[in-house]
Amino acid sequence: MHVLGIETTCDETAAAIVRLRPDGTGEILADEVMSQIAAHAAYGGVVPEIAARAHVEIVDSLVARALRKAGMRAVDLDGIAAAAGPGLIGGVLVGLMTGKGIALAAGKPFLAINHLEAHALVARINGRLAFPYLLLLASGGHTQILAVKGVGDYERLGATMDDAIGEAFDKTAKMLGLPYPGGPAVEAAARDGDPLRFALPRPMIGRPNADFSLSGLKTATRQTAQAIAPLRPRDVADLAASFQAAVVDVIEDRMRVGLGRFRKSAGAATAVVIAGGVAANGAIREAMGRFCAQAGVPLFAPPLNLCTDNGAMIAWAGMERLRRGMVDDLSAPARPRWPLDPKAERSLNGKA
Ligand code: KG4
Ligand code: ZN
Repeated sequence: MHVLGIETTCDETAAAIVRLRPDGTGEILADEVMSQIAAHAAYGGVVPEIAARAHVEIVDSLVARALRKAGMRAVDLDGIAAAAGPGLIGGVLVGLMTGKGIALAAGKPFLAINHLEAHALVARINGRLAFPYLLLLASGGHTQILAVKGVGDYERLGATMDDAIGEAFDKTAKMLGLPYPGGPAVEAAARDGDPLRFALPRPMIGRPNADFSLSGLKTATRQTAQAIAPLRPRDVADLAASFQAAVVDVIEDRMRVGLGRFRKSAGAATAVVIAGGVAANGAIREAMGRFCAQAGVPLFAPPLNLCTDNGAMIAWAGMERLRRGMVDDLSAPARPRWPLDPKAERSLNGKA
């Protein structure tokens, strides 16, 4: 079985083709990603209108390139998957309509994929990860702790009430005069910094739910920066390190609470999985490694190209659904918001 996956929910245009091997694992035959980082860098964040236009201009040729690399035509595919949300609606429409068009023309099943579900399931592509597992999904747009119990069966144990973790890194970078995207820049600056120089708050630590709040930390970082301005390189490094240390402490505490809740509702976890662009952060990976060793649960960190937004995760989620007959029809809507766990749908400010 071969599935094409199309991703256009944020600032990456991506198309990939995944083949299902007889042993149930996935083989990525083509994985095309075009980042729009350069187009948005001047604004310090993703501009929805620019993103949608950039997706329109490139998506067809990325799909064509993926098919060429896999040595296939659209009619050779067994399914076409496209991310139908959550995300920036203009971009979502571009990928969704492209996917539907190909499915219609080729007469193949269509799969409308939840972008968060794709992040959650792609760790299974190598066949070593069984349900149920605990997932930390942390990117520029999302921060959630999820119990992944099966395909289409998710329980949200926690989510951010304001900023996503990646967003907090991006905003912190901006106030420290570091480039966009901020995560890698803050991490690099933090390497030479003193994490103990500034005592920044650790919001939510000790709370019995597994939710996050990052805006207070962001404000405290800004106020600290303003109080010691103009910032010398040492100040930037120390502030970056102090900010990152606070985020690490918060994540560790929230995951501890999340795992406790997981065990009550789903039993023993096969693994703790980290996904999303923030999973690239070395300090966070290290902290998760420590946490998992203490908790006696293996840590599963997919390779970075599968952690950040990509087409293979959409194709793989499509494969998981197609195998189970969970196909969609061509009326599947584009959804700017699309919670994985409808029961947990609270007013979390659109970030969850
Ligand atoms: O998953 P992703 O590529 O795109 C979405 O947001 O969906 O995640 C990008 C986010 C950005 O906010 C970026 O600053 C953050 O992930 N990020 C990092 C690191 N690398 C990327 N955050 C912290 N440390 C990093 N090394
Ligand atoms: Zn994402």
